[in-house]
Amino acid sequence: MNPTGRSFGSDNHAGVHPAVMAALAAANTGDATAYGEDELSRRAVAALQAATGAARALLVFNGTAANVLGVGLLIRPYEGVICAESSHLNVDECGAAERVLGTKLLPVPAPDGKLTPELIAGRLAGRGDEHRVQARVVELAQVTEAGTCYSLAELRSLREYCRSEGLLMYLDGARIANAAAHLNCSLADLAACADVLSFGCTKNGAMGAEAVLVMDERLAEGAAFHRKQQMQLGSKLRFLSAQVLALLEDDLWLRNARQANAMAARLAAGLAGLPGVRLAYPVEGNAVFAKVSRDVATALQDWIFHADGPEVRSVVRLMTSFSTTEDDVDALTAAVRRSSDSRETSASA
Ligand SMILES: Cc1ncc(COP(=O)(O)O)c(C=O)c1O
Repeated sequence: MNPTGRSFGSDNHAGVHPAVMAALAAANTGDATAYGEDELSRRAVAALQAATGAARALLVFNGTAANVLGVGLLIRPYEGVICAESSHLNVDECGAAERVLGTKLLPVPAPDGKLTPELIAGRLAGRGDEHRVQARVVELAQVTEAGTCYSLAELRSLREYCRSEGLLMYLDGARIANAAAHLNCSLADLAACADVLSFGCTKNGAMGAEAVLVMDERLAEGAAFHRKQQMQLGSKLRFLSAQVLALLEDDLWLRNARQANAMAARLAAGLAGLPGVRLAYPVEGNAVFAKVSRDVATALQDWIFHADGPEVRSVVRLMTSFSTTEDDVDALTAAVRRSSDSRETSASA
């Protein structure tokens, strides 16, 4: 039983941050020019550029669209994208990059979700051979899909390696706020390690908005046309812009990410050492991956609200958000403790 009503299934299960809701309501006064020609949209673009050093910022509706638009700015039709096998781009976007961009993904098994220069090098065979797709882009997620973070040193060495190999870097920043909070660095520090990246707002307290940031103006050629053709130019763009502005104001994005990360750390500390529970990856963002016994997995089903039925997994992903509280975490930890205690009791009976 989950008495809190709080889900740990995804940071997308969280609602909208009250400040974002208030910004939406405030934006809903009077008329404004459409398609980003309004004051709020101009301010949102300027604020994103100031926070990240990007040459261009384009708002889109969701993370899959951001990845497709962002990667699409970097490749030609015969070029491919090296990515982690576990990447959202590869497994959770219904083949959007392949379908929409017509590109070939070149997935690499990556322990802990992270690519390394060595793993990338293993995918570079066939360069210059006209029969083979040409690796051109390296896509990585920060935070990764395993809840781990690249350090700035790791990102910079990947950047250097990619430059030396003529590869461009795309960073899926659906949880870039959590990475910046974990690394105690600025968004600009992370953005400087990519050619194009996304800045995720939805998982950070927005209702639904993401930004694509292009670090070099030369790569932004045609970006506005790509966005429109990919059906991502919002007519009432001011409402996406209002959300972004609310998150950037007084670093709300950072406070939200810190709260989510702190709750994940608390959860990990509470679960570690319980019988039948083992953490699968280091907890470096707002996700806790735990390898659990069947009893614990069953007890957790009420807390993860999986939309895809009561499938019981041995490795569960527990996610926190800006709205997760210490009481929520402690209630979940207590439930897991109870289920692992009862397992111990019945095993010793
Ligand atoms: C790493 C990562 N990238 C991108 C996305 C964005 O996906 P969506 O298209 O559902 O907004 C997600 C969402 O879960 C994600 O986890």
